[in-house]
Amino acid sequence: MRVVDIIEKKQMGEELTKAEIHFMVEGFTNESIPDYQMTAWMMAVYFQGMNEKEASHLTMAMVESGDQIDLSGIDGVKVDKHSTGGVGDTTTIVLAPLVASAGVPVAKMSGRGLGHTGGTLDKFEAIEGFKIEVPIEKFIELVNKNKVAVVGQTGNLAPADKKMYSLRDVTSTVQSIPLIASSIMSKKIASGADAIVLDVKVGDGAFMKTVDDARQLAKTMVQIGEQVNRKTLAVISDMSQPLGFAVGNALEIKEAIDTLKGEGPSDLTELCLVLGSQMLMAANKVETLEEGKALLQEKIDNGEALETLRQFIEHQGGNPAVVDDPSLLPQAKYLTEIKADRDGVISDWTAHEVGVACSLLGAGREKFTDDIDPAVGVVLKAKVGDSVKKGDPIVVIHSNTEDISEVEDKLTKAFKISDHSEPIQLIVDTINHA
Ligand code: URA
Ligand code: CA
Repeated sequence: MRVVDIIEKKQMGEELTKAEIHFMVEGFTNESIPDYQMTAWMMAVYFQGMNEKEASHLTMAMVESGDQIDLSGIDGVKVDKHSTGGVGDTTTIVLAPLVASAGVPVAKMSGRGLGHTGGTLDKFEAIEGFKIEVPIEKFIELVNKNKVAVVGQTGNLAPADKKMYSLRDVTSTVQSIPLIASSIMSKKIASGADAIVLDVKVGDGAFMKTVDDARQLAKTMVQIGEQVNRKTLAVISDMSQPLGFAVGNALEIKEAIDTLKGEGPSDLTELCLVLGSQMLMAANKVETLEEGKALLQEKIDNGEALETLRQFIEHQGGNPAVVDDPSLLPQAKYLTEIKADRDGVISDWTAHEVGVACSLLGAGREKFTDDIDPAVGVVLKAKVGDSVKKGDPIVVIHSNTEDISEVEDKLTKAFKISDHSEPIQLIVDTINHA
Protein backbone atom coordinates (compact mmCIF):
# COMPACT_ATOMS: atom_id res chain seq x y z
CA MET A 1 0.00 0.00 0.00
CA ARG A 2 1.25 3.48 -0.80
CA VAL A 3 0.15 6.59 1.07
CA VAL A 4 0.01 8.68 -2.13
CA ASP A 5 -2.44 6.25 -3.72
CA ILE A 6 -4.74 6.44 -0.70
CA ILE A 7 -4.60 10.24 -0.70
CA GLU A 8 -5.38 10.30 -4.42
CA LYS A 9 -8.25 7.83 -4.05
CA LYS A 10 -9.90 10.05 -1.43
CA GLN A 11 -9.17 13.16 -3.52
CA MET A 12 -11.17 11.57 -6.32
CA GLY A 13 -14.05 11.01 -3.91
CA GLU A 14 -13.80 7.23 -3.83
CA GLU A 15 -14.65 5.03 -0.84
CA LEU A 16 -11.62 3.83 1.15
CA THR A 17 -11.37 0.29 2.48
CA LYS A 18 -10.96 -0.66 6.13
CA ALA A 19 -7.36 -1.73 5.38
CA GLU A 20 -6.52 1.62 3.77
CA ILE A 21 -7.97 3.62 6.66
CA HIS A 22 -6.18 1.51 9.29
CA PHE A 23 -2.96 1.82 7.30
CA MET A 24 -3.20 5.63 7.45
CA VAL A 25 -4.05 5.83 11.16
CA GLU A 26 -1.53 3.22 12.28
CA GLY A 27 1.22 4.71 10.10
CA PHE A 28 0.60 8.19 11.41
CA THR A 29 0.51 7.00 15.05
CA ASN A 30 3.80 5.10 14.74
CA GLU A 31 5.33 8.01 12.79
CA SER A 32 6.03 6.09 9.59
CA ILE A 33 3.61 8.49 7.87
CA PRO A 34 4.78 12.12 8.17
CA ASP A 35 2.58 15.10 9.06
CA TYR A 36 2.50 16.42 5.48
CA GLN A 37 1.02 13.23 4.07
CA MET A 38 -1.51 12.94 6.88
CA THR A 39 -2.47 16.58 6.33
CA ALA A 40 -3.00 15.99 2.61
CA TRP A 41 -5.17 12.98 3.41
CA MET A 42 -7.25 14.80 6.02
CA MET A 43 -7.69 17.72 3.63
CA ALA A 44 -9.00 15.26 1.02
CA VAL A 45 -11.43 13.91 3.65
CA TYR A 46 -12.39 17.49 4.50
CA PHE A 47 -13.44 18.15 0.91
CA GLN A 48 -14.77 14.72 -0.12
CA GLY A 49 -16.25 13.54 3.17
CA MET A 50 -16.64 9.92 4.25
CA ASN A 51 -19.59 7.59 4.26
CA GLU A 52 -20.72 5.91 7.48
CA LYS A 53 -18.66 2.77 6.83
CA GLU A 54 -15.46 4.74 6.33
CA ALA A 55 -16.18 6.90 9.39
CA SER A 56 -16.71 3.71 11.45
CA HIS A 57 -13.40 2.23 10.27
CA LEU A 58 -11.68 5.50 11.12
CA THR A 59 -13.29 5.47 14.59
CA MET A 60 -12.17 1.92 15.33
CA ALA A 61 -8.67 2.52 13.94
CA MET A 62 -8.34 5.40 16.43
CA VAL A 63 -9.78 3.27 19.28
CA GLU A 64 -7.24 0.54 18.50
CA SER A 65 -4.34 3.00 18.48
CA GLY A 66 -4.23 2.97 22.31
CA ASP A 67 -5.64 1.50 25.52
CA GLN A 68 -9.22 0.39 25.81
CA ILE A 69 -10.78 0.52 29.26
CA ASP A 70 -12.34 -2.78 30.24
CA LEU A 71 -15.53 -2.10 32.20
CA SER A 72 -16.80 -5.68 31.99
CA GLY A 73 -16.42 -5.85 35.78
CA ILE A 74 -19.47 -3.59 36.05
CA ASP A 75 -22.84 -5.29 35.78
CA GLY A 76 -25.33 -3.95 33.27
CA VAL A 77 -25.12 -1.77 30.17
CA LYS A 78 -22.60 1.04 30.67
CA VAL A 79 -24.01 4.19 29.12
CA ASP A 80 -21.83 7.24 28.58
CA LYS A 81 -23.10 10.72 27.82
CA HIS A 82 -21.15 13.27 25.86
CA SER A 83 -21.79 16.94 25.23
CA THR A 84 -20.05 18.69 22.36
CA GLY A 85 -19.41 21.54 24.80
CA GLY A 86 -21.25 24.58 25.98
CA VAL A 87 -21.51 27.41 28.47
CA GLY A 88 -23.07 26.63 31.87
CA ASP A 89 -23.71 23.06 30.71
CA THR A 90 -24.51 21.62 34.12
CA THR A 91 -26.12 18.43 32.76
CA THR A 92 -23.54 15.79 33.71
CA ILE A 93 -23.62 16.80 37.39
CA VAL A 94 -27.38 16.27 37.40
CA LEU A 95 -27.48 13.22 35.14
CA ALA A 96 -24.84 11.08 36.82
CA PRO A 97 -26.77 10.65 40.12
CA LEU A 98 -30.19 10.94 38.46
CA VAL A 99 -29.68 8.09 35.99
CA ALA A 100 -27.92 5.99 38.66
CA SER A 101 -30.91 6.43 40.97
CA ALA A 102 -33.06 4.88 38.23
CA GLY A 103 -30.86 1.76 38.33
CA VAL A 104 -28.56 2.26 35.32
CA PRO A 105 -24.81 2.33 36.09
CA VAL A 106 -23.00 5.56 35.18
CA ALA A 107 -19.25 5.05 34.76
CA LYS A 108 -18.10 8.38 33.43
CA MET A 109 -14.72 9.68 32.39
CA SER A 110 -14.81 13.41 32.03
CA GLY A 111 -12.51 16.18 30.96
CA ARG A 112 -11.44 19.62 32.08
CA GLY A 113 -12.58 22.91 30.63
CA LEU A 114 -10.64 24.87 28.05
CA GLY A 115 -11.36 28.22 26.42
CA HIS A 116 -14.89 29.49 26.87
CA THR A 117 -16.43 26.14 27.83
CA GLY A 118 -16.36 24.55 31.27
CA GLY A 119 -15.34 21.01 32.16
CA THR A 120 -17.18 18.58 34.41
CA LEU A 121 -14.08 17.60 36.41
CA ASP A 122 -13.40 21.21 37.36
CA LYS A 123 -16.98 21.51 38.56
CA PHE A 124 -16.83 18.41 40.79
CA GLU A 125 -13.50 19.56 42.20
CA ALA A 126 -15.30 22.63 43.57
CA ILE A 127 -16.60 20.21 46.24
CA GLU A 128 -14.06 20.04 49.08
CA GLY A 129 -12.22 16.72 49.07
CA PHE A 130 -13.81 15.34 45.88
CA LYS A 131 -11.25 13.09 44.16
CA ILE A 132 -11.28 12.60 40.40
CA GLU A 133 -7.97 10.75 40.08
CA VAL A 134 -9.04 7.22 40.84
CA PRO A 135 -7.34 3.99 39.69
CA ILE A 136 -9.43 1.91 37.34
CA GLU A 137 -10.05 -0.95 39.83
CA LYS A 138 -11.37 1.53 42.38
CA PHE A 139 -13.49 3.22 39.69
CA ILE A 140 -15.17 -0.11 38.88
CA GLU A 141 -15.67 -0.83 42.59
CA LEU A 142 -17.33 2.58 43.09
CA VAL A 143 -19.75 2.03 40.21
CA ASN A 144 -20.66 -1.45 41.46
CA LYS A 145 -21.29 -0.13 44.98
CA ASN A 146 -23.08 3.15 44.29
CA LYS A 147 -23.98 2.80 40.57
CA VAL A 148 -22.10 6.01 39.78
CA ALA A 149 -18.57 7.42 39.57
CA VAL A 150 -17.09 10.33 37.63
CA VAL A 151 -13.32 10.36 37.19
CA GLY A 152 -10.56 11.84 35.03
CA GLN A 153 -9.31 9.96 32.01
CA THR A 154 -6.75 7.30 32.76
CA GLY A 155 -4.59 5.41 30.32
CA ASN A 156 -3.51 6.23 26.83
CA LEU A 157 -6.92 6.59 25.15
CA ALA A 158 -7.09 7.07 21.36
CA PRO A 159 -3.59 8.58 20.95
CA ALA A 160 -4.18 8.69 17.16
CA ASP A 161 -7.03 11.12 17.77
CA LYS A 162 -4.85 13.34 19.94
CA LYS A 163 -2.12 13.43 17.28
CA MET A 164 -4.60 13.97 14.43
CA TYR A 165 -6.44 16.70 16.31
CA SER A 166 -3.20 18.65 16.90
CA LEU A 167 -2.52 18.51 13.18
CA ARG A 168 -6.10 19.41 12.22
CA ASP A 169 -5.92 22.39 14.55
CA VAL A 170 -3.07 23.97 12.58
CA THR A 171 -4.12 22.90 9.06
CA SER A 172 -7.75 24.07 9.10
CA THR A 173 -9.21 20.58 8.95
CA VAL A 174 -11.08 20.62 12.28
CA GLN A 175 -14.48 21.48 10.79
CA SER A 176 -15.08 18.20 8.99
CA ILE A 177 -18.09 16.22 10.18
CA PRO A 178 -16.64 12.69 9.68
CA LEU A 179 -13.40 13.76 11.39
CA ILE A 180 -15.25 15.32 14.35
CA ALA A 181 -17.69 12.40 14.64
CA SER A 182 -14.97 9.73 14.62
CA SER A 183 -12.84 11.77 17.04
CA ILE A 184 -15.64 11.97 19.61
CA MET A 185 -16.85 8.39 19.16
CA SER A 186 -13.33 6.92 19.38
CA LYS A 187 -12.79 8.44 22.82
CA LYS A 188 -16.15 7.23 24.14
CA ILE A 189 -15.59 3.69 22.86
CA ALA A 190 -12.00 3.56 24.15
CA SER A 191 -13.24 4.52 27.60
CA GLY A 192 -15.46 1.46 27.70
CA ALA A 193 -18.96 2.67 26.80
CA ASP A 194 -21.47 0.02 25.66
CA ALA A 195 -23.95 2.71 24.69
CA ILE A 196 -23.62 6.45 24.10
CA VAL A 197 -25.96 9.43 24.42
CA LEU A 198 -24.82 12.57 22.65
CA ASP A 199 -25.83 16.14 23.34
CA VAL A 200 -24.94 18.03 20.18
CA LYS A 201 -25.04 21.73 20.97
CA VAL A 202 -25.98 24.25 18.33
CA GLY A 203 -25.66 28.01 18.31
CA ASP A 204 -23.23 30.79 18.91
CA GLY A 205 -21.69 29.22 22.05
CA ALA A 206 -21.22 25.84 20.34
CA PHE A 207 -18.92 24.11 17.91
CA MET A 208 -21.77 23.69 15.41
CA LYS A 209 -23.29 27.03 14.46
CA THR A 210 -26.22 25.82 12.35
CA VAL A 211 -28.97 23.27 12.92
CA ASP A 212 -28.15 21.54 9.62
CA ASP A 213 -24.53 20.97 10.65
CA ALA A 214 -25.54 19.83 14.14
CA ARG A 215 -28.05 17.37 12.71
CA GLN A 216 -25.49 16.02 10.25
CA LEU A 217 -22.93 15.55 13.04
CA ALA A 218 -25.49 13.86 15.29
CA LYS A 219 -26.64 11.52 12.53
CA THR A 220 -23.08 10.59 11.58
CA MET A 221 -22.27 9.67 15.20
CA VAL A 222 -25.49 7.65 15.59
CA GLN A 223 -24.65 5.78 12.35
CA ILE A 224 -21.09 5.10 13.53
CA GLY A 225 -22.54 3.73 16.79
CA GLU A 226 -24.80 1.41 14.83
CA GLN A 227 -21.90 0.18 12.66
CA VAL A 228 -19.70 -0.62 15.67
CA ASN A 229 -22.48 -2.11 17.85
CA ARG A 230 -22.75 0.67 20.42
CA LYS A 231 -26.34 1.80 20.71
CA THR A 232 -26.14 5.57 20.22
CA LEU A 233 -28.85 8.22 20.65
CA ALA A 234 -28.58 11.98 20.29
CA VAL A 235 -30.18 15.26 21.24
CA ILE A 236 -29.64 18.49 19.36
CA SER A 237 -29.98 21.31 21.88
CA ASP A 238 -29.68 25.07 21.90
CA MET A 239 -26.46 26.77 22.96
CA SER A 240 -27.20 30.29 21.77
CA GLN A 241 -27.77 31.33 25.39
CA PRO A 242 -26.16 29.64 28.43
CA LEU A 243 -27.95 26.60 29.88
CA GLY A 244 -29.70 27.22 33.21
CA PHE A 245 -28.80 30.29 35.23
CA ALA A 246 -25.39 29.46 36.69
CA VAL A 247 -22.05 29.49 34.87
CA GLY A 248 -18.99 28.73 37.01
CA ASN A 249 -17.81 25.69 38.91
CA ALA A 250 -19.23 25.89 42.48
CA LEU A 251 -22.22 27.87 41.18
CA GLU A 252 -23.09 25.02 38.83
CA ILE A 253 -22.77 22.43 41.62
CA LYS A 254 -25.36 24.41 43.55
CA GLU A 255 -27.55 24.63 40.45
CA ALA A 256 -27.30 20.85 39.98
CA ILE A 257 -28.30 20.28 43.62
CA ASP A 258 -31.33 22.57 43.12
CA THR A 259 -32.26 20.66 39.96
CA LEU A 260 -32.07 17.29 41.75
CA LYS A 261 -34.38 18.77 44.40
CA GLY A 262 -36.86 19.67 41.65
CA GLU A 263 -36.12 23.39 42.03
CA GLY A 264 -33.77 23.90 39.10
CA PRO A 265 -34.05 26.12 36.02
CA SER A 266 -36.69 24.83 33.61
CA ASP A 267 -34.38 24.52 30.57
CA LEU A 268 -31.70 22.59 32.46
CA THR A 269 -34.35 20.35 34.03
CA GLU A 270 -36.00 19.60 30.67
CA LEU A 271 -32.71 18.80 28.94
CA CYS A 272 -31.65 16.52 31.80
CA LEU A 273 -34.96 14.64 31.67
CA VAL A 274 -34.60 14.08 27.92
CA LEU A 275 -30.92 13.10 27.98
CA GLY A 276 -31.47 10.97 31.08
CA SER A 277 -34.39 9.23 29.44
CA GLN A 278 -32.27 8.49 26.38
CA MET A 279 -29.61 7.03 28.69
CA LEU A 280 -32.29 4.72 30.15
CA MET A 281 -33.43 3.81 26.62
CA ALA A 282 -29.86 3.09 25.53
CA ALA A 283 -29.50 0.76 28.54
CA ASN A 284 -32.82 -0.97 27.67
CA LYS A 285 -34.33 0.16 30.98
CA VAL A 286 -37.30 1.89 29.31
CA GLU A 287 -38.75 1.83 25.82
CA THR A 288 -39.95 5.37 25.23
CA LEU A 289 -38.79 8.89 25.96
CA GLU A 290 -42.00 9.59 27.93
CA GLU A 291 -41.60 6.48 30.09
CA GLY A 292 -38.02 7.44 30.93
CA LYS A 293 -38.87 11.05 31.74
CA ALA A 294 -41.65 9.91 34.11
CA LEU A 295 -39.31 7.50 35.93
CA LEU A 296 -36.65 10.20 36.35
CA GLN A 297 -39.20 12.76 37.54
CA GLU A 298 -40.32 10.22 40.15
CA LYS A 299 -36.69 9.85 41.37
CA ILE A 300 -36.46 13.63 41.75
CA ASP A 301 -39.83 13.89 43.52
CA ASN A 302 -39.18 11.07 46.01
CA GLY A 303 -35.68 12.34 46.91
CA GLU A 304 -33.81 9.26 45.68
CA ALA A 305 -31.85 11.23 43.06
CA LEU A 306 -30.64 13.69 45.71
CA GLU A 307 -29.74 10.85 48.08
CA THR A 308 -27.72 9.21 45.30
CA LEU A 309 -25.82 12.49 44.83
CA ARG A 310 -25.07 12.62 48.56
CA GLN A 311 -23.64 9.09 48.57
CA PHE A 312 -21.80 9.62 45.31
CA ILE A 313 -20.02 12.71 46.71
CA GLU A 314 -19.17 10.86 49.92
CA HIS A 315 -17.81 7.81 48.08
CA GLN A 316 -15.47 10.02 46.06
CA GLY A 317 -14.08 11.68 49.17
CA GLY A 318 -16.13 14.89 48.99
CA ASN A 319 -18.09 16.57 51.75
CA PRO A 320 -21.72 15.42 51.31
CA ALA A 321 -22.97 18.20 53.63
CA VAL A 322 -22.85 20.58 50.62
CA VAL A 323 -26.05 18.92 49.39
CA ASP A 324 -28.00 20.27 52.35
CA ASP A 325 -25.95 23.42 52.82
CA PRO A 326 -24.56 24.74 49.50
CA SER A 327 -23.04 27.72 51.39
CA LEU A 328 -20.26 25.24 52.28
CA LEU A 329 -19.13 25.45 48.63
CA PRO A 330 -16.40 28.00 47.80
CA GLN A 331 -17.91 31.51 47.86
CA ALA A 332 -16.66 34.54 45.93
CA LYS A 333 -15.78 37.73 47.86
CA TYR A 334 -17.68 40.22 45.72
CA LEU A 335 -21.14 40.18 44.16
CA THR A 336 -21.91 42.77 41.47
CA GLU A 337 -25.23 43.18 39.71
CA ILE A 338 -25.79 44.41 36.17
CA LYS A 339 -29.23 45.96 35.92
CA ALA A 340 -31.68 46.55 33.09
CA ASP A 341 -31.41 50.06 31.64
CA ARG A 342 -34.96 49.95 30.24
CA ASP A 343 -38.24 48.02 30.37
CA GLY A 344 -38.62 45.24 27.81
CA VAL A 345 -37.95 41.61 27.13
CA ILE A 346 -34.61 39.82 26.88
CA SER A 347 -34.10 39.02 23.19
CA ASP A 348 -30.50 37.81 23.22
CA TRP A 349 -28.02 36.37 25.75
CA THR A 350 -24.87 35.44 23.87
CA ALA A 351 -23.48 32.21 25.34
CA HIS A 352 -20.01 32.64 23.89
CA GLU A 353 -19.53 36.07 25.50
CA VAL A 354 -20.75 34.78 28.87
CA GLY A 355 -18.22 31.94 28.61
CA VAL A 356 -15.40 34.36 27.85
CA ALA A 357 -16.46 36.65 30.74
CA CYS A 358 -16.39 33.71 33.18
CA SER A 359 -13.00 32.69 31.89
CA LEU A 360 -11.74 36.26 32.54
CA LEU A 361 -13.07 36.00 36.11
CA GLY A 362 -10.92 32.89 36.55
CA ALA A 363 -13.60 30.19 36.21
CA GLY A 364 -11.96 28.77 33.08
CA ARG A 365 -8.52 28.42 31.60
CA GLU A 366 -6.76 29.37 28.39
CA LYS A 367 -4.07 26.68 28.63
CA PHE A 368 -4.28 23.31 30.37
CA THR A 369 -1.69 24.44 32.94
CA ASP A 370 -3.71 27.47 34.13
CA ASP A 371 -5.26 27.38 37.62
CA ILE A 372 -8.96 28.03 38.00
CA ASP A 373 -10.99 29.63 40.79
CA PRO A 374 -13.93 27.38 41.77
CA ALA A 375 -15.91 30.18 43.43
CA VAL A 376 -16.27 32.68 40.59
CA GLY A 377 -18.75 32.92 37.73
CA VAL A 378 -22.11 34.49 36.95
CA VAL A 379 -25.77 33.81 37.72
CA LEU A 380 -28.27 35.01 35.13
CA LYS A 381 -31.43 36.51 36.63
CA ALA A 382 -33.38 36.72 33.36
CA LYS A 383 -33.17 34.69 30.15
CA VAL A 384 -34.36 35.08 26.58
CA GLY A 385 -38.12 35.68 26.60
CA ASP A 386 -38.25 37.03 30.18
CA SER A 387 -39.81 40.46 30.71
CA VAL A 388 -37.79 42.92 32.77
CA LYS A 389 -38.29 46.37 34.25
CA LYS A 390 -35.66 49.11 34.30
CA GLY A 391 -33.45 48.52 37.35
CA ASP A 392 -34.11 44.76 37.58
CA PRO A 393 -30.95 42.66 37.99
CA ILE A 394 -30.10 40.79 34.76
CA VAL A 395 -26.95 39.04 35.95
CA VAL A 396 -24.96 38.76 39.18
CA ILE A 397 -21.19 38.52 38.88
CA HIS A 398 -19.38 36.47 41.55
CA SER A 399 -15.73 37.62 41.63
CA ASN A 400 -12.67 37.47 43.84
CA THR A 401 -11.19 40.66 42.41
CA GLU A 402 -12.65 44.08 43.01
CA ASP A 403 -11.95 45.58 39.59
CA ILE A 404 -14.07 43.68 37.11
CA SER A 405 -14.74 46.49 34.64
CA GLU A 406 -13.68 44.38 31.63
CA VAL A 407 -16.07 41.60 32.65
CA GLU A 408 -18.91 44.05 33.33
CA ASP A 409 -18.34 45.59 29.93
CA LYS A 410 -18.40 42.23 28.18
CA LEU A 411 -21.56 41.08 29.96
CA THR A 412 -23.38 44.35 29.37
CA LYS A 413 -22.82 43.81 25.65
CA ALA A 414 -23.78 40.12 25.84
CA PHE A 415 -27.53 40.64 26.38
CA LYS A 416 -30.13 42.70 24.60
CA ILE A 417 -33.43 44.11 25.88
CA SER A 418 -35.98 44.72 23.13
CA ASP A 419 -39.71 45.28 22.71
CA HIS A 420 -40.25 41.64 21.83
CA SER A 421 -38.17 38.48 21.36
CA GLU A 422 -38.21 35.29 19.32
CA PRO A 423 -38.61 32.21 21.52
CA ILE A 424 -35.66 29.82 21.65
CA GLN A 425 -36.34 26.16 21.03
CA LEU A 426 -34.24 24.34 23.64
CA ILE A 427 -34.48 20.86 22.17
CA VAL A 428 -34.22 21.13 18.42
CA ASP A 429 -34.44 17.41 17.74
CA THR A 430 -33.91 13.97 19.23
CA ILE A 431 -32.42 11.11 17.24
CA ASN A 432 -33.38 7.76 18.72
CA HIS A 433 -32.21 5.41 15.96
CA ALA A 434 -29.84 5.39 12.99
N1 URA B 1 -14.30 17.53 19.83
C1 URA B 1 -13.58 16.41 19.65
O1 URA B 1 -13.41 15.62 20.57
N2 URA B 1 -13.04 16.17 18.45
C2 URA B 1 -13.20 17.00 17.39
O2 URA B 1 -12.71 16.72 16.33
C3 URA B 1 -13.94 18.18 17.60
C4 URA B 1 -14.48 18.40 18.83
CA1 CA C 1 -25.89 26.14 34.17
